[in-house]
Amino acid sequence: MTTLAAKRRRILVTGGTSGIGLELVRRWVKRHEIIATGRSFPEELSDLAAQNPGLTHSRTDQAKPRDAAGRIAAAITARGWEMLDHAVLNAGTGFVCDPADEDIARILETLTTNLTASMVLAHHLFPLLEKGGGTLTLIGSTAHRGAPAFASYAASKAGLNGFARSLREEWRGRVRVQILHPGPTRTTMHQKAGLDTGRAGAFFTPPAAMAAMIDHAIARRVAVRRLSFLRYWSGEGLLARGL
Ligand SMILES: NC(=O)c1ccc[n+]([C@@H]2O[C@H](COP(=O)([O-])OP(=O)(O)OC[C@H]3O[C@@H](n4cnc5c(N)ncnc54)[C@H](OP(=O)(O)O)[C@@H]3O)[C@@H](O)[C@H]2O)c1
Repeated sequence: MTTLAAKRRRILVTGGTSGIGLELVRRWVKRHEIIATGRSFPEELSDLAAQNPGLTHSRTDQAKPRDAAGRIAAAITARGWEMLDHAVLNAGTGFVCDPADEDIARILETLTTNLTASMVLAHHLFPLLEKGGGTLTLIGSTAHRGAPAFASYAASKAGLNGFARSLREEWRGRVRVQILHPGPTRTTMHQKAGLDTGRAGAFFTPPAAMAAMIDHAIARRVAVRRLSFLRYWSGEGLLARGL
């Protein structure tokens, strides 16, 4: 008898080239079919793809949402997928700065990559997810409640939160929608954003544990969840069962 847990799923992971997204790819690559996206194609991911034919990469830049949607559609067609079981919209960026000094190009890059592109992708992926009885997972942030030196980033994640909650009602019974809000996680995002996390960084959740909590929340089909360091310490980051 085929159990739900044994089902090989078709999964899109945006931002699958580093940090949390790459850890999600690592978790699922043996058991599921995956398309991972990002502007880069780092060695860790190309090595994984070389060892696992069920993993392919699509080079996309979400700062150009229409182009990104077209490339992802082409990657899905190239795999011969007519439906999707899961889309995890995880790609994200941000820049630490006093909002009074923030460069307009960076404001636009943050909002476009994190929010507009996610909205455009959700729109394009809807028919595939509906056909597959699938789940759309949006990766938000605990910063959606406000983060002073990260104002544009916080705004993008607050927008994503409102978008996800609206879609969840609108698409009820057709596509499941969830938004997961990670707390601080030990990836290179902070360094790229220009933030020195100092000693506090040692207390950030390891990315593999964050990926485990995300996987668990997807498998449990929770609507909204904050994924905190406390949850990690409670054991969920290690013991959580996922897809
Ligand atoms: N780390 C944290 O503390 C934390 C906390 C809360 C929420 N989050 C969220 O978790 C998600 C993953 O972050 P992370 O910590 O794993 O950071 P990360 O290691 O910097 O990974 C970010 C991913 O997003 C992709 N990306 C960034 N800009 C892109 C663009 N313009 N077009 C396409 N892909 C783009 C990157 O790929 P390329 O570089 O290859 O383009 C990379 O794969 C993000 O949405 C982030 O906001 C992180």
